[in-house]
Amino acid sequence: MENFEFYSPTEFVFGKRRELECGKYAAKYGAKKVLIHYGGGSAVKSGLIDKVKASLTEAGVEFCELGGVQPNPRDTLVYKGIDICRKEGVDFVLAVGGGSVIDSSKAIAIGTVYDGDFWDLYSGKPIEKALPVGTVLTIAAAGSEGSGDSVITKEDGMLKRGAGSDLIRPRFSILDPELTQTLPAYQTACGATDIMAHVFERYFTNTREVEITDRLCEAVLLTMIKETPRVIKDPDNYDARANIMWAGMVAHNNIVGVGRQQDWNSHGIEHELSGLYDVAHGAGLAVIMPAWMEHVYKHNVMRFCQMATRVFGCQMNFEDPEATALEGIYRFRRFLRDIGMPINFAELGAKEEDIPTLVQKLGIGSGTRGGFMELNADDVTEIYRKAVRAEI
Ligand code: NZQ
Ligand code: ZN
Repeated sequence: MENFEFYSPTEFVFGKRRELECGKYAAKYGAKKVLIHYGGGSAVKSGLIDKVKASLTEAGVEFCELGGVQPNPRDTLVYKGIDICRKEGVDFVLAVGGGSVIDSSKAIAIGTVYDGDFWDLYSGKPIEKALPVGTVLTIAAAGSEGSGDSVITKEDGMLKRGAGSDLIRPRFSILDPELTQTLPAYQTACGATDIMAHVFERYFTNTREVEITDRLCEAVLLTMIKETPRVIKDPDNYDARANIMWAGMVAHNNIVGVGRQQDWNSHGIEHELSGLYDVAHGAGLAVIMPAWMEHVYKHNVMRFCQMATRVFGCQMNFEDPEATALEGIYRFRRFLRDIGMPINFAELGAKEEDIPTLVQKLGIGSGTRGGFMELNADDVTEIYRKAVRAEI
């Protein structure tokens, strides 16, 4: 196991109707005037935004609002949010929604107190300060409710880039599984795929002797394999929703990733797809992640056998370990198909002829991307090609 620091100061407030307490928590973390930031309509339609406003008023916290965050959140709305925060003297950003809303809120929080174009902070400049952020989560997926990351798409060129710092980990996150019951099955499945991908990005490592995080990773994956089909079949199953919601947080606040080298190439390769085609991040991962696995498994066949046997219940074939590894990858893709995810370019709406553009946008040039296995531009091209051809 490698040395590590783990700092995860978010206060999680979990359970039925806990969103009614958001005013109390905003006040606890010093909010005097809040920007309520939300998406394209679901939180308004469900009455959640009205409940949030009532709770803030009850706690004596002033507010203004900005809706309209799109999935794959855009820089253009972030600029609007920064403007509002500066004009209105906002001192706290409250995200009410999913990963896109939370990431847009984080961008506004750092942009408001940054003396320059906030995009600098998504182009490698370190984040030095931020307004505090809180969240009321409505979809289990990105894990942004517990992470120090934010991903924004620059509309000009549809360039999707991330920024990260413990300064943008939310001060509090309210997780009421009931709020996720209005999600369409497809969005639920996209979220489940993203949660599993966050674990796999950490599971495939070259660090040895990390049994504790291996086992934590496997626990999250086994939970997702059990609970996802249950909520797809029965969207109102509170207990299954609750397990998935907490799994989404555990998968990405890095408790399952400490002390080990991590990969993140599937995410990098996927972000170009959701950037270019504006598709759901989870759906893009369903297409990319098994293709990445097929490309890299020979780098450490036994690690893939561990996944196959411990997570997907395969029998170990000691005479032909590669067959076990491939069976595990097959079962992962089969699972994704069974929960309604696309598994190849055509099903996602992506085009094979765009592969050179995707590779070029990734900016790999003549270098490599580190991780479980170093990838050069040819490797990435081959992963996209495998994703074109994938079938079950
Ligand atoms: O806008 P509304 O109307 O709310 O609709 C949303 C949106 O269309 C809908 N939705 C959310 N909660 C709902 C609901 N519909 C009905 N009932 C509810 N309770 O779901 C759609 C997707 O929402 P979105 O926020 O985009 O989903 P998700 O949480 O998957 O976030 C995806 C974004 O997070 C980024 C992704 O790249 C993508 O941009 N990521 C952020 C990470 C982070 N900050 O740590 C890590 C991830 O790897 C990921 O990259
Ligand atoms: Zn993700």
